[in-house]
Amino acid sequence: MRLAQPLPPGSVIGILGGGQLGRMLALAAARLGLKCHIYAPKGDNPAFDVAFAHTEAPYDDPPALEAFADAIDVVTYEFENVPAETAAFLGERLPLAPGAEVLAITQDRLTEKSFLSELGIGVAPFAAVDDEFSLEWALGKVSGPAILKTRRLGYDGKGQLRIEAGDDPAAVWVNFGGAPSIVERVVAFEKEISVIAARGWDGAFAAYDVPENEHEDHILRRSTVPAKITPEDARAAHAIARTITTKLDYVGIIGVEMFVTQEGVLVNEIAPRVHNSGHWTIDACLVSQFEQHIRAIAGWPLGDPFRYSDVVMTNLLGDEAAGWSTLASRPLTALHLYGKAESRPGRKMGHVNRLTPRQP
Ligand SMILES: Nc1ncnc2c1ncn2[C@@H]1O[C@H](COP(=O)(O)OP(=O)(O)O)[C@@H](O)[C@H]1O
Ligand SMILES: [Mg+2]
Repeated sequence: MRLAQPLPPGSVIGILGGGQLGRMLALAAARLGLKCHIYAPKGDNPAFDVAFAHTEAPYDDPPALEAFADAIDVVTYEFENVPAETAAFLGERLPLAPGAEVLAITQDRLTEKSFLSELGIGVAPFAAVDDEFSLEWALGKVSGPAILKTRRLGYDGKGQLRIEAGDDPAAVWVNFGGAPSIVERVVAFEKEISVIAARGWDGAFAAYDVPENEHEDHILRRSTVPAKITPEDARAAHAIARTITTKLDYVGIIGVEMFVTQEGVLVNEIAPRVHNSGHWTIDACLVSQFEQHIRAIAGWPLGDPFRYSDVVMTNLLGDEAAGWSTLASRPLTALHLYGKAESRPGRKMGHVNRLTPRQP
C-alpha cells in the first residue's frame, strides 16, 4: 500500500526491530513531533526505552500484528530479515517502506547479486552453490581465491568462509554446514565505501557524502568522511545508488556497500535500512540518516544532506563502551551509547563521532 498523504506531526510510525537502529530512528522521529511504536520479540530491545509505545511479541503472531497495524500510520523496519509473511501481513494493511519486494531481493544474496548484474552494475564474479558438486563448479567459474557465503541471514561476516586454492570442495562443504550459498571471487579492493541515500514516495532522491569504511574481523570498525576517492568514483557510487533505488521504487534510506577497485566501483551488498556507516550523519550533518528515513517514509520533503564537518565514526564494541567517562570528556567528540543490557565481545554497544569542522 502506498502512503496517501504526508503524515502530520502526531502520527505514529511503526518500526519492526528493537535494536540501536530502531532506537536512533525513534529519537529522530521525536524531534519532528512524530511518535514511534516499536514491535520486537522478547529480548534486549533498547529501542523500547525511547519510544512512544512498544509491543513485545513474536513476528509470527497475527493478533499482535493486527493490533500493531491498527495503532500505526506507516510501517518500516530496522533489519532486513523481517519474515516475508510478516511484511506481507502488514503491507496489506498499511504503507510498508521499503516495500516487500525490496525485502525479498535483499534477504537472499543470490537474488540480490542477480538483480544488480541485470541492472549492469558491477559485482564480484559469483555463482550459486547447493552442494559439493556445484561448489567445485562455482570455484572454477569465479577462479582464484573465493568466499563462500550463505544466501540468507548472514551479518558481520557470519556465515562466510574464505576458500584458498587447493582446498577440497567436499571437505569445505561439510565443514560449512551445507546451507544454500553463493561463491564470490575475493575482490582486490583499494577501499571499501558505502552510499547512504534516501528516496521519497514521490521519487525525490538525496545522497550523503561517501564514507570510507574499515572492517576488523568482518565488523565495521570505522567510517571516515569524506572518503579519499576520486570525484569520478564518488559520482559513480551515487549514480549506482540512484539506479538501484529507482528500479526498486524504493522509499526510505538505503545503505549500499561498495568496493573501490582499479577497474572502478563494484557493489558488495545492499542494506534496505539505515546503516552503521551512516551514524556520523547524526553529528556532522544538518539532517541525520535517521531523520531522513523518517522524513522519507512519512512523505515529508527529504532533508538537505549537507555536511558541515569532516568526521570519523568509530564503533564501540563489547567492553570498549565501559570507557564512556573518558570518551565523554574528549573535545569535539560526540558519544552515543545504545543502552544495551549486556556487553559481549564484538557486540555494537555505541559509537563516537569525532568532528573536524570544515572552515568556512
Ligand atoms: N568478494 C569479496 N571480496 C573481498 N572482500 C569481501 C568480499 N565479500 C565480503 N568481503 C569482506 O567481508 C566483509 C563482510 O562481507 P559482507 O558480504 O558485507 O557480509 P555481511 O553481511 O556480513 O556484512 C565486507 O565488508 C568485506 O570486507
Ligand atoms: Mg556487509
